[in-house]
Amino acid sequence: MPYSSSNNNHNRRGSCDVSREVRAPLLPVLSKMIRSLLPSDFDALLKVINDAAQAYKGVIPNDRWKEPYMSAEELRKEIEAGVRFFGLLEGGHLLGVAGIQALKDTTLIRHAYVLPGCQGKGTGTRLLEYLLGLVETPEILVGTWADATWAIRFYQKHGFRPVSSREKDRLLRTYWNIPERQIETSVVLRTIPSLQ
Ligand SMILES: CC(C)(COP(=O)(O)OP(=O)(O)OC[C@H]1O[C@@H](n2cnc3c(N)ncnc32)[C@H](O)[C@@H]1OP(=O)(O)O)[C@@H](O)C(=O)NCCC(=O)NCCS
Repeated sequence: MPYSSSNNNHNRRGSCDVSREVRAPLLPVLSKMIRSLLPSDFDALLKVINDAAQAYKGVIPNDRWKEPYMSAEELRKEIEAGVRFFGLLEGGHLLGVAGIQALKDTTLIRHAYVLPGCQGKGTGTRLLEYLLGLVETPEILVGTWADATWAIRFYQKHGFRPVSSREKDRLLRTYWNIPERQIETSVVLRTIPSLQ
């Protein structure tokens, strides 16, 4: 049965703390897996994004924060624009998500979010490594808020390096569809896997 955010047990049952109590090896069915997300995962995907995005509250500029951080309409548009989402699940519960968007001669990593109780435990790394394995272009870009220092550190640990401010503006205008104010308050990091 497709998981829906209307399930009130989501936080409790999907949280990393609870799932640790019932972790494999005794129950291999609860082992973690990454898979492409389906239309039936839409509500759970949106919930992970908005729960994880709470990390931005009070950190990114106030005029860039809204609640929910991403609306269903915005997420739908991202999917229509070609963002393919993957999720890491444990026992059928979505713990983290990340998207990939192939554009012209580059690939963007989009919307990487891990449930708050699960952050810092390797979920983002597993998802990112999985996505990097799908990339067919020489270059991979990721954009995030300049104030999201933890996210910048996360990408730097995986070989991404910040581009110059001028290059950031150019890349965001070329490959992203975001307002000027978001361009001002963002950074872009790049990796070229063949050079790693
Ligand atoms: C950024 C994010 C996707 C990384 O996923 P994650 O599962 O927490 O990351 P991992 O456990 O695989 O990697 C941990 C590394 O990421 C960084 N990190 C990011 N957020 C962290 C957190 N809340 N706790 C600990 N480490 C964090 C650190 O550099 C850490 O490395 P370290 O342990 O050597 O210090 C996740 O923390 C998240 O959803 N954050 C909030 C939303 C966000 O910033 N999204 C990025 C959008 S571009």
